[in-house]
Amino acid sequence: MNWWETDFVSVRDNRLRIAGRDAAELAARYGTPLYVYGKDRILERFARLEEAFARHTALEGRISYAMKANPHAGILRLLQRRGAWIDAVSPCEVETALKAGFPPGRIMYTGTSVSRADLRFAFGIEGLTVNIDAAEQLDLMNEVRRDVPGRDIRVSVRWNPGIGRGFNPKAVTAGKRASDGMPIKFGVEAHKVVDVFKRARRMGFRPVGLHQHLGSGWVREDLGLVVTAVDRLVRKARELEKAGFPLEFLDFGGGFGPRYLKSRRLFPVEDYVAHISRAVAGAGLSARALVIEPGKYMVGDAGALLLGVEYVKESYGNLFACVDGGTFNTVPRPAIYLSAHHEIVNAGRVDGPHRARVTVAGNLCETGDVFGRERLMPLPRNGDILAVLCAGAYCRSMASRFNLRPIPREVLI
Ligand code: LLP
Repeated sequence: MNWWETDFVSVRDNRLRIAGRDAAELAARYGTPLYVYGKDRILERFARLEEAFARHTALEGRISYAMKANPHAGILRLLQRRGAWIDAVSPCEVETALKAGFPPGRIMYTGTSVSRADLRFAFGIEGLTVNIDAAEQLDLMNEVRRDVPGRDIRVSVRWNPGIGRGFNPKAVTAGKRASDGMPIKFGVEAHKVVDVFKRARRMGFRPVGLHQHLGSGWVREDLGLVVTAVDRLVRKARELEKAGFPLEFLDFGGGFGPRYLKSRRLFPVEDYVAHISRAVAGAGLSARALVIEPGKYMVGDAGALLLGVEYVKESYGNLFACVDGGTFNTVPRPAIYLSAHHEIVNAGRVDGPHRARVTVAGNLCETGDVFGRERLMPLPRNGDILAVLCAGAYCRSMASRFNLRPIPREVLI
């Protein structure tokens, strides 16, 4: 079995199968480039998290899907019916979640650089929880609130626990600075948190939760730091409770994902949920619910992108499989984050002789438009179908129309 095989992608007779269907046949039927997503894989991920909560805590475990990872309407409806909550980060995401059937009471809006227009929109939706990213945001909230008098508005605070972790400096969302020195814009500094709660209440908002999000793309080695951050949030919640703010929920954010790379060890989600549960129980907090906000974990490896090989080019000793899609329009992660890896598999010949180092190049006018660089694979032929794996999260949702290329069709099966 190949390291990347799951119940979504598998191999039969040396051909790739996606959600139980022959990948090359899917490509022939719907055309390439094509995103394929699998319902069963997404539901399996959801069930795993649900079971982890059930095993380790008597509190309510809320799985709040970070829809920025993939806001496909079918995926949202699927998760809505399954009882998921929603982490939305813009008014349009909130609207999209509402359209998919999520009640406002199951949506939290976590903004950054929030505008008055954003707040007016959010305050107009009864039952929505507004997550505060800055002490300074409260002044805008107070101003906008005057236009919607009498409404009971649920708020929580996104604090910055002073440490963060992600697979790439650009994917670290807490701490003072990322490892490349970039100042981190998210969250309320630790010593300001209690005051933000007090001011929010004085302004007439109803504080209900404390939230953090450390970053994205954790591996096993990150558990130690992540657990330290969990303990920090729990201590802060205790401080808040002592200051007269018992909280309904504690939200630990997202960050854990699927296996993108053979050499990476998976983040132990079960141990993580167990630690959260123990830490909260040990602190004797009155919180009713524990929240996590998975994006990558829910949909990352439940998606693949199928590409057609137009021709194989040789130049100065380099071999290129020239495909019918561009990274920016389909799977932009490798072009944005140099350390983002997506495994690439030949759908019609998963394994085979004549292996060569092949660079899978897209159809955009950009040298970095490469899905995979010098990958060892069976030499592709014209007309072959290549599958870019783990394309369910932050691919379609971050795709642009650069070069005026279209964004591919998506099928959910
Ligand atoms: N909660 C909040 C408030 C977030 O900002 C995010 C992601 C998540 C949850 C979900 O994180 P996840 O479980 O997916 O790691 N574009 C990058 C990832 C950036 C994620 C930003 N925030 C990528 O392609 O790797």
